[in-house]
Amino acid sequence: MTAMRLSKAWPMAQMSLFIGVLLNGAGFVRADNPIVQSIYTADPAPVVHDGRVYLFTGHDEDGSTNYDMRDWRLFSSEDMVNWQHHGSPMDLTTFSWADASAWAGQLIARNDQFYFYVPVHRATGGMAIGVGVSDNITGPFIDTIGGPLLENGQIDPTVFIDDDGQAYMYWGNPGLWYVKLNEDMISYSGSITQVELTTDGFGTRPDNPNRPTMFEEGPWIYKRGDLYYLLYAANCCAEDIRYSTGPSATGPWTYRGVIMPFEGSSFTNHPAVIDFENTSYFFYHNGALPGGGGFTRSVAQIGALDPYTRQEAETMAWSEGVETEVCSEGGIDVSFINDGDYIKVKGVAFGEGATSFTARVASAASGGSIELRLGSKTGTLIGTCIVSGTGDWQTWTSVTCPVSGATGTHDLFFYFTGSSTEDLFNFNW
Ligand SMILES: *[C@@H]1O[C@H](CO)[C@@H](O)[C@H](O)[C@H]1NC(C)=O
Ligand SMILES: *[C@@H]1O[C@H](CO)[C@@H](O)[C@H](O)[C@H]1NC(C)=O
Repeated sequence: MTAMRLSKAWPMAQMSLFIGVLLNGAGFVRADNPIVQSIYTADPAPVVHDGRVYLFTGHDEDGSTNYDMRDWRLFSSEDMVNWQHHGSPMDLTTFSWADASAWAGQLIARNDQFYFYVPVHRATGGMAIGVGVSDNITGPFIDTIGGPLLENGQIDPTVFIDDDGQAYMYWGNPGLWYVKLNEDMISYSGSITQVELTTDGFGTRPDNPNRPTMFEEGPWIYKRGDLYYLLYAANCCAEDIRYSTGPSATGPWTYRGVIMPFEGSSFTNHPAVIDFENTSYFFYHNGALPGGGGFTRSVAQIGALDPYTRQEAETMAWSEGVETEVCSEGGIDVSFINDGDYIKVKGVAFGEGATSFTARVASAASGGSIELRLGSKTGTLIGTCIVSGTGDWQTWTSVTCPVSGATGTHDLFFYFTGSSTEDLFNFNW
């Protein structure tokens, strides 16, 4: 257990995930942020698999004032703009020996398996690192070891497989540690190595004799060309994001400075970098999920969204008011829809023109309407689907309505209307 995490026992703003795009290292633009508006998410760990970006996150319980985190969440996107919610791929019950603290992890693929490394609190005390294993990136994950992979009281694992096939796991707060993982990814060889935190490697932190360098927590290891990058949350508290580089996965590390200064109201942070479709993306989290939108929205969408195949209702670029829940038809659905809530789907390619719209819906109340609007929630109305009561929130039916005026590519808004005093309906796809 570390002083840093202990010190986090004071009230905090709940966190939400943000994303930025690094444009050839030269510029920085923001996506529709935060990525997830329906729950509080933290500690982003993206991974590219099979043409999609899968984003594993932590999950702050509503009202959490002390890192009440019990499960992880998963989102995916093929255009980096519209994100599908997959629900929870893993939670504390995966690890029979853990009782709390589903904190920052990272997933990596190898041998047609997926390995999700996470820090959790042991029922017998102390933080340890476990591995969930699955043959499907969406889970469910199994604790094949049946105990911790390793434990030294420190947290925040990041895993990396070098071009020669050697895998490394780094972790730590307040120290920085690494170990070589075996090819089975659930055991290691050699000793656990503590990285010496030097000024050359990690800068100097003024006025903190206990933590003389900038390194704080949340390491993320990444390679581009021949250069290895170690990004980390730094200069606590509040944290910013800094990095060091080295000629190998084990350094020696040279301190390079700040990537992202402190901003927002979360005093923690957690970096991640991936390459996807020739672009490097930087993920972080931040405090205080905004209710009102109004963020700069300037990331170019990589591909258009196809409205002529079934799309999950929980695929969205932005939403207001709605939540998500496990669906009786599989996957998850959009729930707690109220009058005036909406979902925005960005870059929908209608082409020659859509003529009808079908939605999968359920309502234990009296239903409502889905207004299809272009460009904004008050934009051109291209169709309205009436949803009636189905007797239960999980008794599903399909409703179809005519659509006209939808040609070309537009942002599509599902604007929900109905009774102002009750939940209206659920929306599956
Ligand atoms: C993984 O699981 C999801 C959800 O159950 C399923 O839709 C998908 O087909 C599975 N993928 C593979 C490769 O089996
Ligand atoms: C990525 O870059 C490669 C090499 O320059 C190029 O062939 C490919 O078309 C690019 N892909 C995308 C999606 O831009």
